[in-house]
Amino acid sequence: MKSITVGITGASGSIYAQRLLVKLIESPSVDRIDLVLSQAGIRVVNEELGINAAGTGHRVVTELTGIESDKVIVHPASDIGATIASGSYESHAMIIVPCSMSSLACIASGVMRDLVHRAADVHLKEGRKLILVPRETPVHAIHLENMLKLARIGVQIVPAMPSFYHQLVTIGDLIEHFTHRLLDHLDVPHNQATRWEGSRKR
Ligand SMILES: Cc1cc2nc3c(=O)[nH]c(=O)nc-3n(C[C@H](O)[C@H](O)[C@H](O)COP(=O)(O)O)c2cc1C
Repeated sequence: MKSITVGITGASGSIYAQRLLVKLIESPSVDRIDLVLSQAGIRVVNEELGINAAGTGHRVVTELTGIESDKVIVHPASDIGATIASGSYESHAMIIVPCSMSSLACIASGVMRDLVHRAADVHLKEGRKLILVPRETPVHAIHLENMLKLARIGVQIVPAMPSFYHQLVTIGDLIEHFTHRLLDHLDVPHNQATRWEGSRKR
C-alpha cells in the first residue's frame, strides 16, 4: 500500500490533477493521499474547472473529484507544520501536478514559500520519489536550467504534453492517457492504459 502526496500549483492543467486524484482514490494500491493546493493553485482550479477548492476537509475532495473519500487529507498551503512537512511522516512519493514555473524555481533553489515546496523539499532530502508536471510555453533558459538542476538530482520532470501517436480521438482521451502515464511514474498499477505495441499491431 502506498501513501502519496499530491501538490496542485497555479499552472494551467488542473484537470490532470483532478483526473489523477480520482484514479488514486479508486486505486486499491493507495491507502492515503495527502493533498495541498497553493494559493495560485486554488485560483487556477477555479478558473479552469469552476470549482472552489479553498479550505480543507472532505468538501474540497468531493468538489474536486465528485467522490466522498476518507483517503484524502487536505492540508492548507500555509500550514508549514503539517504532517507532510516532516521527513518522519510516511509518504512514498510526491507529485506536483500541474507545477508552475514559480514553484519549480523555488524547489530547485531550496526555497520553501509554502507547504507545497516544503513537502517537495522533504521528499528530496529523504531520497523519495518527486515528480513534477510543469506546464509552460515557451520556456526560457532559467526554466530549462531549473528543470535540468532538478533532473540531475533524480526529480522526474514529466511535462504536461499529450502524445498523439495512439490515435486518441478526444481531448478527454488525451487527458486520460497522460494521467495513466502519471500513474506509471508513481508505480501505481492500473490496467486502463493505451500502451504502444508497435505500428503493425494497431
Ligand atoms: C489562469 C492562470 C493560468 C496560469 N498558467 C500558468 C502556467 O501554465 N504555467 C505557469 O508556470 N504559471 C502559470 N500561471 C501563473 C502562476 O499561477 C503564478 O506564477 C503563481 O505565482 C504560481 O504560484 P504557485 O507556484 O505558488 O502556485 C497562471 C496563472 C493563472 C491565473
